[in-house]
Amino acid sequence: MIIAFAGKGGVGKSTISSQLIRNLAKRDLVLAVDADPNSNLGEKLGMETYGTIGGIRNELVADPGKVPASVSKQEYISNRVLQTLSEGDNVDLLIMGRPEGEGCYCFVNDVLRNCFAELVPRYKYAVVDNEAGMEHLSRKVLPKADVLVFVSDPTMTGVRTAARLSTLADEVGVTVDRRILVINNIPNQNYGPLVDEANRLGLKEVVTIFHDDHVTDCAMQGELLDVPDDSAFAQSVAGLAKLITG
Ligand SMILES: Nc1ncnc2c1ncn2[C@@H]1O[C@H](COP(=O)(O)OP(=O)(O)O)[C@@H](O)[C@H]1O
Ligand SMILES: [Mg+2]
Repeated sequence: MIIAFAGKGGVGKSTISSQLIRNLAKRDLVLAVDADPNSNLGEKLGMETYGTIGGIRNELVADPGKVPASVSKQEYISNRVLQTLSEGDNVDLLIMGRPEGEGCYCFVNDVLRNCFAELVPRYKYAVVDNEAGMEHLSRKVLPKADVLVFVSDPTMTGVRTAARLSTLADEVGVTVDRRILVINNIPNQNYGPLVDEANRLGLKEVVTIFHDDHVTDCAMQGELLDVPDDSAFAQSVAGLAKLITG
């Protein structure tokens, strides 16, 4: 099952997706995909990183002769992708890296598409921390989202922006089975109108997550997200996991 996150910068996508990854990895094998070039999912999860898909892509476009004559390009790229895979406890991490630059990347993207098609089914869950544009989904490098989770700040503007992103996903041809809106970082109980607005705009499944000082404390210490299991944040994300996995 592919669970993809989307939302504008700073709303909590990486924080929530990394906590969700930890939660799911207690029981199942999870592929974590960092698909936001401005993200640092590896550091949030406390995992080593060994290069990016973007790096492999740029290497190949700059020097197609890199591929030894004895192996096919598909084989070569698949192996390089596996080399960059960072292995943790029940979690493997793949970093997409910077988006493509000039030049023709169609072939490399075709190959990457095949790599993902092969890789994703090895895991029970793939959790993708996207940037707002959902580039890898829209280019179909990532095949689809079984669940697309939009994250919003606790404002009316934020909820409307999330709803627009949901429309954008349709416009760019992203295949989505299920959409969930997470309203994050909520300071008090007055969030009812935000949920109503989300529902009115077609986002019927809404999860609310309160501001949690455990998260703030972690962010003040460094990149690693390590909140207690009984914290409100961990409990809320556990609820999100339950909603997604059924
Ligand atoms: N529920 C929460 N409570 C407290 N702080 C939060 C919460 N969710 C996110 N944050 C903080 O908000 C900031 C942005 O979160 P981040 O996950 O990096 O956003 P994004 O990935 O969407 O850009 C981080 O400093 C994070 O610690
Ligand atoms: Mg992020």
